[in-house]
Amino acid sequence: MAEVMKAPKRQLTYVTDLNKCIGCQTCTVACKKLWTTSPGQEYMYWRNVETSPGLGYPRNWQTKGGGYKDGELLVGKLPPMIDYGIPFEFDYNGRLFEGEKGRVRPSPTPRSGPNWDEDQGDGDYPNNSYFYLPRMCNHCTKPACLEACPNEAIYKREEDGIVVIHLDKCKGTQACVQSCPYAKPYFNPLTNKANKCIGCFPRIEKGVAPACVAQCVGRAMHVGFIDDTNSSVYKLVKQYKVALPLHPEFGTEPNVFYIPPVLGPKMELPDGTMSADPKIPLAQLEGLFGKQVRDVMNILQAERMKKMEGQESELMDVLIGRRSADMMISPMT
Ligand code: SF4
Ligand code: SF4
Ligand code: SF4
Ligand code: F3S
Repeated sequence: MAEVMKAPKRQLTYVTDLNKCIGCQTCTVACKKLWTTSPGQEYMYWRNVETSPGLGYPRNWQTKGGGYKDGELLVGKLPPMIDYGIPFEFDYNGRLFEGEKGRVRPSPTPRSGPNWDEDQGDGDYPNNSYFYLPRMCNHCTKPACLEACPNEAIYKREEDGIVVIHLDKCKGTQACVQSCPYAKPYFNPLTNKANKCIGCFPRIEKGVAPACVAQCVGRAMHVGFIDDTNSSVYKLVKQYKVALPLHPEFGTEPNVFYIPPVLGPKMELPDGTMSADPKIPLAQLEGLFGKQVRDVMNILQAERMKKMEGQESELMDVLIGRRSADMMISPMT
């Protein structure tokens, strides 16, 4: 039976501005280097940045199932390893210093992997489009992983709402992997335990921003406690209501939110002139963030126009984020 969950006293909340993410993967590498370098974790990317539209990582995760329907927990699929991408060895020394000895290939030959379809997107030139979608555990208010675990190994921290796996209690059942609709718990076959994003809680306890946020090159990430009315996350999620969760219909109530991409290029007409319609289809955004996205795009456009016309816009100032310290708890790394 799953552990009875106490509501946390505070909730750490993340916002990613999709208009500013440049897909550089610095956040991915920061997380990887810090937390998932042990044997059995080679295939794991607690933080990943995928191209949307695209297959994602693991591929087709958006249809794997899990989450809730009408309040009932759903059991989804266990993604096979090929959907994550089987890690390969590569002889860097041979490639860099002994190249004359012949061709150096990855082994086994990669057949899939994270970002296998990076930058492909969809549509026909010149009106093809895509944007980058950074993903991590959503530290949900209704974590399906927690409810699914029969060994009470998952809990939501009272002090910050971060969802963590208690490794001493984990027996490798993988119900968490099945039931998380975002495919964010990962099974380590060598330890027979599941691992997932820990919200960088050892850093949070020291008052320092998570590694993925602090290292963000695009200054696209905000983090803070949602009850702090001075925080940028409060302003974006609660005050201006322009930050939306990914796939709200999954029913887990994520605490990771997104500013939808409103700044994309416009459609090109057959005569070569530009139309007023964005290349990124609204239907794609509604499929990711729900019907509310239309209103959010209108608010963002209107506030942007204000700023362009020299008027004040607190919302645009928050999104511009001139000082890292205004976007996150201490950005020290
Ligand atoms: Fe659990 Fe998945 Fe929600 Fe993370 S995103 S808290 S793993 S249900
Ligand atoms: Fe990784 Fe920390 Fe970011 Fe979670 S919060 S994705 S553990 S860097
Ligand atoms: Fe996007 Fe920032 Fe990650 Fe780069 S570091 S991929 S800009 S979220
Ligand atoms: Fe529970 Fe997942 Fe471990 S279901 S036992 S936390 S693998």
